[in-house]
Amino acid sequence: MSALLQIERLSVTYNLNGRALPALQEVDLCLAPGEKLGLVGESGAGKTTLASAVMGLLPRGATVKGAILFKGQTLSSPLLARLRGREMVLIPQNVYNSLNPVFSIGQQMEDLLVKAQLPRQKRQQLILELLGKVRLPRPQELPGSYPHQLSGGMKQRILLAMGLSRSPSLVLADEPTKGLDPVRRMGILRLVKELVSRNGQSLILITHDLKAAVYLCDTVALMYRGELVEIIPASCLLTAGLHPYTRALLAAAPERGLAIPACGEGPPSPAAVQGCPYSLVCPICLPACRKKKPPLFSVGPGHMVRCGKVA
Ligand SMILES: Nc1ncnc2c1ncn2[C@@H]1O[C@H](COP(=O)(O)OP(=O)(O)O)[C@@H](O)[C@H]1O
Ligand SMILES: [Mg+2]
Repeated sequence: MSALLQIERLSVTYNLNGRALPALQEVDLCLAPGEKLGLVGESGAGKTTLASAVMGLLPRGATVKGAILFKGQTLSSPLLARLRGREMVLIPQNVYNSLNPVFSIGQQMEDLLVKAQLPRQKRQQLILELLGKVRLPRPQELPGSYPHQLSGGMKQRILLAMGLSRSPSLVLADEPTKGLDPVRRMGILRLVKELVSRNGQSLILITHDLKAAVYLCDTVALMYRGELVEIIPASCLLTAGLHPYTRALLAAAPERGLAIPACGEGPPSPAAVQGCPYSLVCPICLPACRKKKPPLFSVGPGHMVRCGKVA
């Protein structure tokens, strides 16, 4: 089947006060129609950068190399303007900045649907339907309420309803449960899975939480300092994860509920990305790994690893 999204040798470098800061290094990734991919990695790994690049939402000054194709077409600014919000949506990480505090929920949802050129009565009916779909209690009371009257979990469900309102083929959810308590987190994740599966939509779920990725996704891609280090079928991850970074995450997992700790080591320095970015902390690092970055190496169906020990 042809890919819905194809990312080819994508590199993104930010400009930080004149200093080049590489955030993504030659990322190759392919997403089939209906496939759910979990993008996992610690803070600063480049996950949001990847999502922003796909959506064409990188800040000015960021340098992009490589190509991104959607349904076989190279994404350009005019094409992105047509696709964004319709065919591709981003469910953002920060629920607090994503809803406008001065407009009611109903007004904000209507604004979206006006763009879809639906008549008023149809719009209002659809809003209630969408609020019901994301299982918000008493949906008929919600259009008149304002963001400050709602909890974080409710706001996240509303953002989800807004994101899915145009039946996009690709949903990118950037840590959609950040800041929510564990019970609400699982509730939202289950809902995301159910809604995208029901409509055959593709999903890129960005998360810190390996367990959530295994539970929700078909494939898991692990990122370390701007690079993909392993791509693996979700069902194999717990038993057959190979990269030493994956192994370290799995070994650390039980007591941390599989959530990845933020390492706080900061961005990759241009010097460190000469060789394998994990070589600095890798327990099985070979001398060659420090000099030359190993390629992503196929080790089984849908399973690729970037490791000098495996190649
Ligand atoms: N707008 C920006 N300008 C400069 N550097 C940035 C910007 N956004 C992110 N970065 C840097 O790029 C790297 C990757 O960040 P990000 O994609 O946000 O990672 P993640 O989402 O995995 O936490 C980090 O080192 C981060 O500090
Ligand atoms: Mg992020």
